[in-house]
Amino acid sequence: MPALPHATATAAQAGEETIRSRLEKLHHARVVVTGGGGLVGSRLVALLCEAGAAVTVLDRMDAYPESGHETFGVARSGARLVVGDVCDAATVGALLRDAEFVVHAAAYADVAACDRRPDIAFRANVEGTQVVLEQVARFPVRRLVMVSSASVYGDGLPGVEGPQVFHEDQPLFPVSVYANSKLWAEHQTRLMLGASSGTEYAVVRYFSVYGEPQLPKPGSHSWMVPWLSQQARLGRPMRLNGGGIQVRDLVHVDDIAEATALALTEERMAGRTVNIGTGRPTSVRAVADLIAAYFPGARRVSTPRPEGDPLGGYAATERSRDLLRWQARITVEEGVERYVRWLLATPDATPRWLAEELHGA
Ligand SMILES: NC(=O)c1ccc[n+]([C@@H]2O[C@H](COP(=O)([O-])OP(=O)(O)OC[C@H]3O[C@@H](n4cnc5c(N)ncnc54)[C@H](O)[C@@H]3O)[C@@H](O)[C@H]2O)c1
Repeated sequence: MPALPHATATAAQAGEETIRSRLEKLHHARVVVTGGGGLVGSRLVALLCEAGAAVTVLDRMDAYPESGHETFGVARSGARLVVGDVCDAATVGALLRDAEFVVHAAAYADVAACDRRPDIAFRANVEGTQVVLEQVARFPVRRLVMVSSASVYGDGLPGVEGPQVFHEDQPLFPVSVYANSKLWAEHQTRLMLGASSGTEYAVVRYFSVYGEPQLPKPGSHSWMVPWLSQQARLGRPMRLNGGGIQVRDLVHVDDIAEATALALTEERMAGRTVNIGTGRPTSVRAVADLIAAYFPGARRVSTPRPEGDPLGGYAATERSRDLLRWQARITVEEGVERYVRWLLATPDATPRWLAEELHGA
């Protein structure tokens, strides 16, 4: 198996000190994380708890069939877990009344599912965001971090050949219901949390998040690292939509958690929208090749590219380096290795529905 280069590990360890000390500002801070039971939320919650924050999670805990949420481990994190819906104004208000910081990460977070069920997407991503913003208006906090997505860039600027770098200020062309709901949430945050609101905000646009113990969602075409790894593990062909020519900026969930936690207190993030990515494009085919190195005999097949699956691009990282004083530290080679090692070491990491679906494919 390819090994993690020593230089990367050393640089990562050196950066650790700095980030840990910066997170000390959150010691004893009261933080509400909506969607804190999900992949990203749970990693963020663990980091905030480690930094000594008093964290409350609001999550419906029903985004994954079988034991998905359990795998993420938020119930064991030391945070207070409130199982509920962000559309429930009374619950959200009761939690915000006592909060200093909010991360709004709850969302119907799957592109294909949002296209299939725009009604659910609207309720979770639009109405839910509106409820959170209204309750923040009633009970101001020091800062709200709105979790958005690079999907707002869509296919990027028309007429540009090859992988595009996405800059925060370029025109936005969402090509899916999900992306449109995220763009709406960005605008609404800016409109409702203006200077007189008493609450600062920052918007973080995540690129493609991955990392153990991420699980695919039924009917989804997002999240290529778990999909392709699970296919390879079960001896099924790795299905490359459109031949895997799309590029993604793959950013590890540990990096995402750090960036989001830092966005809560970093002064120059106030009122700003910032990409959270590595600045490096990786094609789906290249990810399949990385995974295949761990599964001798792994096969790849080309499948049609689904509607709303953008050709992709990668993050301009000047703002994240300048305003957030952050850059991703985990390379895609290291992150994929971590995922595969986790998968191989975790016998029940393949949910039953997925095994049945892949064996039937
Ligand atoms: N994973 C990615 O690649 C990616 C990329 C860009 C942005 N994001 C954003 O990051 C955030 C976290 O996504 P994730 O990847 O961890 O997905 P996830 O599905 O694992 O987490 C989302 C969580 O929100 C919860 N939730 C959904 N609707 C809710 C509601 N109405 N009330 C309360 N809780 C609700 C779910 O139960 C789930 O635990 C989302 O806002 C998503 O849009 C994710």
